[in-house]
Amino acid sequence: MNTPHITALAHPNIAFIKYWGDRDPRLHIPSSNSVSMNLSTLYTKITLSVEPDTHTDKLVINDIAVTGAKLQRIATFLDHVRRLGECSHYFQIVSHTNFPTGAGIASSAAAFASLSVAASALCDLAMDEASLSRLARLGSGSACRSIPAGFVEWNAGENHLTSYAYSLHPASHWNLYDCIAIIDQSPKTTSSIQGHTLADTSPLQAGRLEDIEQRLKQCKDAIQRRDFDALAAVVEPDSDMMHAVMMTSSPPLFYWLPASLGVMLAVREWRAQGLPACYTLDAGANVHVICTEDYHSQVTERLKQLNGVIDVLSSPPGSSATLIE
Ligand code: DP6
Repeated sequence: MNTPHITALAHPNIAFIKYWGDRDPRLHIPSSNSVSMNLSTLYTKITLSVEPDTHTDKLVINDIAVTGAKLQRIATFLDHVRRLGECSHYFQIVSHTNFPTGAGIASSAAAFASLSVAASALCDLAMDEASLSRLARLGSGSACRSIPAGFVEWNAGENHLTSYAYSLHPASHWNLYDCIAIIDQSPKTTSSIQGHTLADTSPLQAGRLEDIEQRLKQCKDAIQRRDFDALAAVVEPDSDMMHAVMMTSSPPLFYWLPASLGVMLAVREWRAQGLPACYTLDAGANVHVICTEDYHSQVTERLKQLNGVIDVLSSPPGSSATLIE
């Protein structure tokens, strides 16, 4: 160990083809591949510093000291990094996030991607991108997709070695925008980690997985060809199918609020009238509206007029997780 503190930054990502359900919940080996885009204007920045003479980690999120389950999740992750790096130090973890956390904007993805980059550097672990992606997955499944740049695919794999994400195209490939209609800023009541364990209790999960290969291909082809209509034709049904699984699991999970449905219907109507936009929702009520650069101001303005929309955050594709100092 030769650096007392280190800072890393990572972006959240929005999935176009979703991850829902694990083959191995302990290692977060998913039931299928997924495809996402990093979000450049949103980020989590983590500064890790060595805490001398202590046997516990300390966590500060957006200037507030945090203990309990959140700290435990991070300490367990850091224990793994300490074992890998044969490193005996405990850390202060200071995290800054510039968007609402725990509300379906992949905040834990950005956090664990950032933490993986910072902790591996501080413990002198020379990790390539695939190794960092595998490490981030152990903290939060979708965090593995926030390690590589731009448009990303997570290969489900069958074990720790084969399950990691890689870049399909750099951020500069296609200037898509994610305009996020914020409807609810409060943390979700059922975390995604808990939700994944319920996926197989829905009779619809098998059907969702049965033709996911074809949706993955359609999505990757649409991105490759920068074909927005083809992208919209697969992104919306994939999101709807994941939510159908959530709603029919035991116990059922309803992440949508009435205003979420209002936004979804409006977006479909706008598209029918010729505006190229489509929606997708993660495990939360906020609606991600995807469009091309030419339309993002118009989409943002229209979203702000809709009932129940508190704010709109918008972002083009983002780069990889990175060390910044
Ligand atoms: C619905 O287990 O990665 O966003 O740890 O809460 O970030 P968090 O979630 P994770 O599951 C994410 C599931 C999803 C769909 C997706 O991003 O693919």
